[in-house]
Amino acid sequence: MSLVSSIESVAVVGGGFMGAGIAEAVAVAGLPVVVREIDEAAVAAARERIDRSLLRALKGGKLDPTEVDACRERITLTTELHAVASADLVVEAVPENEQLKVEVMRAIGVAARADAVIASNTSSIPIAQLAQAVEHPERVVGLHFFSPVPVMRLVEVVVALDTAPDTVAAARAFAQQIGKQPIETKDRSGFIVNMLLVPYLMAAVRMFEEGFASREDIDTGMQLGCGHPMGPLTLCDFIGLDVLYAVCDSLYDEFKRDEYAPPPLLRRMIASGRLGRKSGRGFYEYGP
Ligand SMILES: NC(=O)c1ccc[n+]([C@@H]2O[C@H](COP(=O)([O-])OP(=O)(O)OC[C@H]3O[C@@H](n4cnc5c(N)ncnc54)[C@H](O)[C@@H]3O)[C@@H](O)[C@H]2O)c1
Repeated sequence: MSLVSSIESVAVVGGGFMGAGIAEAVAVAGLPVVVREIDEAAVAAARERIDRSLLRALKGGKLDPTEVDACRERITLTTELHAVASADLVVEAVPENEQLKVEVMRAIGVAARADAVIASNTSSIPIAQLAQAVEHPERVVGLHFFSPVPVMRLVEVVVALDTAPDTVAAARAFAQQIGKQPIETKDRSGFIVNMLLVPYLMAAVRMFEEGFASREDIDTGMQLGCGHPMGPLTLCDFIGLDVLYAVCDSLYDEFKRDEYAPPPLLRRMIASGRLGRKSGRGFYEYGP
């Protein structure tokens, strides 16, 4: 297998919350990027997502008007999967559904150039499994970005059983090229960050569930006592309780350790529509 020597162009499959952010970060770094979505409505939604975020960067003084225009020009949105053939790196960012991801990876494997690196932004599906859908699984790697992607500097580079050292090197170099800090992890549920973060957040949820302390005191404790920028229950609301529940489930499924089991309260909150910030209420209430 021969791989591209450097990443000069990127394609992102899935222009949702994460995919749009990845495309924006790539464009801001000066590389051309193609975003593939499923239909015209999804293309329009992805464009709007990117435009809104670029506008925020403009208002915040991070980009000037010329830079915003240049970024928009570097981003091509399309419904055509064959457009990924122009890319040195293809990043899969479709919803976290195993069957869908396997199908999308198979299609990317066929459409991408033979020397392109193929990455998945999955949070919990084994990269080894996604790689099996692609001819030459050695060129498949995990690139786990953090949200909001244009702001968060970390990328976890997930090394699966078959991932070639050249692929890892290309993925690390790419992360640095777009101004991110790569850290390397094996292909196991939770990678580095969620494996450490989730038991902490779940301990806070259990503490609240047991009536041990108020939500405010739990959050203030970690903010002022440990210097965290936000307390654990606020962070749960920010991440989204449904997203957290899915991560807990996948960690528990993999390791069968109690610390990963989602507390009963989490499930009840999701059932009653308390998903956190995005639904207007979670551990706290949020205005419109
Ligand atoms: N949300 C987070 O904080 C976060 C953080 C790290 C990783 N992730 C991972 O990133 C991935 C995407 O998550 P998201 O939050 O952006 O989801 P999302 O639902 O916002 O976006 C997914 C997008 O993929 C599109 N899509 C579906 N099928 C497609 C196909 N066949 N081809 C092209 N596009 C298709 C959808 O129209 C949608 O716009 C998931 O694997 C998730 O686990 C999410």
